[in-house]
Amino acid sequence: MQGNVFEKSSKINPVFKDERFLYPEFVPEKLPHRDSEIDSLVYALKPVTEGKKPQNVFLAGKPGTGKTVVAKFVLKELEEYSDRAKFLYVNCFRLNTRHSVLTEISNFLGLPISRRGMSSDEALDSVLQALKKVSFTPIIIFDELDQLVFRGEASALFYDLLRIFEFAKARFGIVIISNNPGILQQLDSRVKSSLVPETIIFEAYSPQQLKDILRERAQFAFFPEAIENDAISVAAAHAAKLGGDARIAIECLLKAGRLAEKRNEKKVSVEHLKEVFSSIEARAVQKAVPFLAGHEKLILSLVPKQGQISSGGLFKKFSLKSSQKISQRRFRTFVSALEKKDLLECAFTEKGVRGRTRMVALKSKAQDFV
Ligand SMILES: Nc1ncnc2c1ncn2[C@@H]1O[C@H](COP(=O)(O)OP(=O)(O)OP(=O)(O)O)[C@@H](O)[C@H]1O
Ligand SMILES: [Mg+2]
Repeated sequence: MQGNVFEKSSKINPVFKDERFLYPEFVPEKLPHRDSEIDSLVYALKPVTEGKKPQNVFLAGKPGTGKTVVAKFVLKELEEYSDRAKFLYVNCFRLNTRHSVLTEISNFLGLPISRRGMSSDEALDSVLQALKKVSFTPIIIFDELDQLVFRGEASALFYDLLRIFEFAKARFGIVIISNNPGILQQLDSRVKSSLVPETIIFEAYSPQQLKDILRERAQFAFFPEAIENDAISVAAAHAAKLGGDARIAIECLLKAGRLAEKRNEKKVSVEHLKEVFSSIEARAVQKAVPFLAGHEKLILSLVPKQGQISSGGLFKKFSLKSSQKISQRRFRTFVSALEKKDLLECAFTEKGVRGRTRMVALKSKAQDFV
């Protein structure tokens, strides 16, 4: 008898006390090295607690520098501290049109409407009606604002929201988050001038700062002694090299921990970390993944990490792998959709013997900063 496969697999040495502390969406209670950013955000939003209008805020910085987690942390604290504020978190990967955002805001304010069968102006009216009734000041976080800007939806939406403020004297706050510090320049001038947000720049973490962040998270995630000290340093150094990105650092620990458990080893070691480095995906793609359709994920996985591939070549690869048989024309609309989401970059070559060729490359958000 071989023994039950589950019995065998339960004989592992657990290294994790609770791996959820390493999940990307987890909001920890302590955020080392972000005191001054937290203070600035608190200061901008504080007027709400006295029934006044908060300042709008813009959080900008490279991937993995703590913008999302700081915004969520501070707004949760604000909600706990005062009944006068409530926040709505909008991820613009998920809601990337004026219409879908307005619908979401109306629902959040307690006036449920359905996304279909209502025009954007009706949705705006519904937001206005709802605002008149609420007793709190809504604060809306627009994370990954680029997604709304690329689609040309951001200016119209902010115009709506600012107009509500001007004409209805209804109060609310806006927190915008983006990797691109210049993104607001792409909005219409009338919106830009009345949005006037306070800007908070998030700098990349140093290796030492990443080490502190990892230690803080690791003490809740791992059993004591289940991770080598050097392993934390190696993960921090790796993430520092890749742009000071805490997400990468934390994901390395999670994957290394799982590898150690799978191999039934007692400690997470430097070797485990080195093994998982290559499996950490490009950041821009990784963030978008939960909001992508299956065929979109497949296309992205087929584009080389470096360099480019012809659209025809990519279509061939896709056809081999996909269970869905589609025309090349339909395939091009998939690629264009990914271009709109700012995940792929397409360009045509100079005219050759067979005409111009469309070349496709993976876009790394980190390039916005170089
Ligand atoms: N100072 C910190 N302390 C503890 N964890 C942190 C800290 N900064 C970031 N993290 C963690 O690192 C990960 C990435 O942070 P976050 O998602 O806030 O980055 P971001 O700046 O929003 O990046 P992106 O621009 O790519 O969205 C999250 O899991 C977050 O909890
Ligand atoms: Mg973020």
